[in-house]
Amino acid sequence: MAQFSALEKLGITFLAAILFTILINVLKFVYTYVVGPTMNKVDFKSKGKWALITGSTDGIGKEYAKELAARGCDIILVSRSMDKLKTTAEEIEKDFKVSTKIIQANFSDGEDIYDKIGREIADLEIGTLVNNVGVSYIYPEYFLDIPDWKQTLENMLKTNCVSVTRMTGLILPGMLKREKGVIINVGSGSSMIPSPLLTVYAATKAYVDKFTEGIEMEYNKKGIIVQCVMPGFVCSNMSGIRRSSFFAPTAKAFVKSAISLVGTTSRTTGYLPHALFLNAINTIHALTGRFGVWLVTRSMENSRRKALKKYKKQ
Ligand SMILES: NC(=O)c1ccc[n+]([C@@H]2O[C@H](COP(=O)([O-])OP(=O)(O)OC[C@H]3O[C@@H](n4cnc5c(N)ncnc54)[C@H](OP(=O)(O)O)[C@@H]3O)[C@@H](O)[C@H]2O)c1
Ligand SMILES: *[C@@H]1O[C@H](CO)[C@@H](O)[C@H](O)[C@H]1NC(C)=O
Ligand SMILES: *[C@@H]1O[C@H](CO)[C@@H](O)[C@H](O)[C@H]1NC(C)=O
Repeated sequence: MAQFSALEKLGITFLAAILFTILINVLKFVYTYVVGPTMNKVDFKSKGKWALITGSTDGIGKEYAKELAARGCDIILVSRSMDKLKTTAEEIEKDFKVSTKIIQANFSDGEDIYDKIGREIADLEIGTLVNNVGVSYIYPEYFLDIPDWKQTLENMLKTNCVSVTRMTGLILPGMLKREKGVIINVGSGSSMIPSPLLTVYAATKAYVDKFTEGIEMEYNKKGIIVQCVMPGFVCSNMSGIRRSSFFAPTAKAFVKSAISLVGTTSRTTGYLPHALFLNAINTIHALTGRFGVWLVTRSMENSRRKALKKYKKQ
């Protein structure tokens, strides 16, 4: 190094540090998305005969139900609309030759539903729980201007936070007795990035993230696999995105990827392009501060304006 000046040495060290960081991150991605899924395959059926999925008649939840049925689990569907429950159960029985059970529950309702669900599942060996149910704003909006304020927020807290907590409380004891089980909680990438105009939704998903982290720390050593999945955009009724793209996969493609990461990582976006997308936003935010926030806010305000125009027309 004798021929380099002190400044050059500093530059070389700095460059090496950057290259090293990039290399570590690439290796992490390769492990998480390529090596891990082939090494740590989880046999869901061996964890227990039944898998219970909340919010399982549409979108991401329905795809988790189908993926778990394809792996031989019998399926318990818990959702709001009876007709959708029946058609989904029929479809799964026919396509995967497994048993199904349906439980109608509106997670915006009170306490009673957990007594009811508890009674219905009392004798069932549930090896996998997917806490998927969740609701968001019907369009991005400033906190104080959310329509039907009190009811909307109460429903959101109950459906997004209380459900995850109570369903885990119902099902974890049986898993502990058998010393095995998988709990997958569906959060959202919105809790990892700046999320103005979706404040309460993102905050409920931050709860899911933190709750999952703690449960994982407490019960992983007892044989329970716990994972928080925090997707970016996925085509579904909730997101309003119909056509799939690189950054917004179909629910089917998303779940195929996310479920392959169970056993490899306990906190994930579930889908490589989502990880890249969220990392890019956070990098811009970290480098530019308020400018990043301004960018996100402007884009949220745009979708708010568009949605309001659409609602006024109807
Ligand atoms: N789509 C995305 O871009 C995205 C991104 C990040 C995170 N997520 C999260 O992924 C999860 C699933 O979202 P999704 O896009 O698949 O939603 P979705 O297509 O709207 O499906 C929601 C499912 O949950 C049920 N459900 C909704 N509210 C309910 C309630 N109060 N009680 C009982 N069941 C209820 C629905 O049943 P009914 O049809 O009968 O109401 C439906 O089966 C949510 O937790 C969401 O926050 C989604
Ligand atoms: C679910 O429950 C909430 C709160 O009780 C209610 O406002 C909503 O209409 C119910 N939804 C359905 C589809 O029953
Ligand atoms: C789709 O979502 C809207 C609210 O965003 C809701 O009113 C409608 O019932 C949902 N449709 C289906 C098929 O779930």
